[in-house]
Amino acid sequence: MRTARSRTSGEYLLFVFIAQSSQEIEPPTNSGRFKVPFRDLDALEAELKKGDVAAFILETIPATYGFPMPSVAYLKACVELCRKYDAMYIADEVQTGLLRTGYMWGWQAFGIQPDIFVTAKGISGGIYPISAAVMTDRCAAWQREDGAAHITTAGGSELGCVVGLKVLEILQRPEVVANVHAVAQF
Ligand SMILES: Cc1ncc(COP(=O)(O)O)c(C=O)c1O
Repeated sequence: MRTARSRTSGEYLLFVFIAQSSQEIEPPTNSGRFKVPFRDLDALEAELKKGDVAAFILETIPATYGFPMPSVAYLKACVELCRKYDAMYIADEVQTGLLRTGYMWGWQAFGIQPDIFVTAKGISGGIYPISAAVMTDRCAAWQREDGAAHITTAGGSELGCVVGLKVLEILQRPEVVANVHAVAQF
């Protein structure tokens, strides 16, 4: 595993690890996971109110749900509810990150700030499998206490980090950003 300052936001600490295949595994009952319907703030608050929720994760634009566009108000309310009940808001940016919304990260387009966000696929530049969990200092504090707290079998990818950082650098070039905005007109 590697840690580095995010180049896009100094407030975030970047934890990078090699992508592993994701499998849809049904959690055992009483696993502690819960689901709430999209756009249902009452259902979300009802869960958060229980006071034992560590985090709420949402794709910024839920691709695997058919790309329904969330309103700015909805995403802001989700974040506010998480803050109110001291749960972390995690944005899944696997499909919305890396300029795909015209912003480096999709959450920026909605004026929200997640505590943690995850990125993958594109950050590999199509060259080397890598994904990253990007988090605030608060969320990363446990990593500072014990750098080996989060290990993975395939962690510690120097090459993957080089590729990921290069992708972030390229995507911040003015000509690349301008091209994305120009293409988005069509
Ligand atoms: C929105 C979203 N999140 C997470 C994942 C999982 O990504 P990975 O296979 O890199 O773990 C995917 C994969 O398609 C995805 O589309």
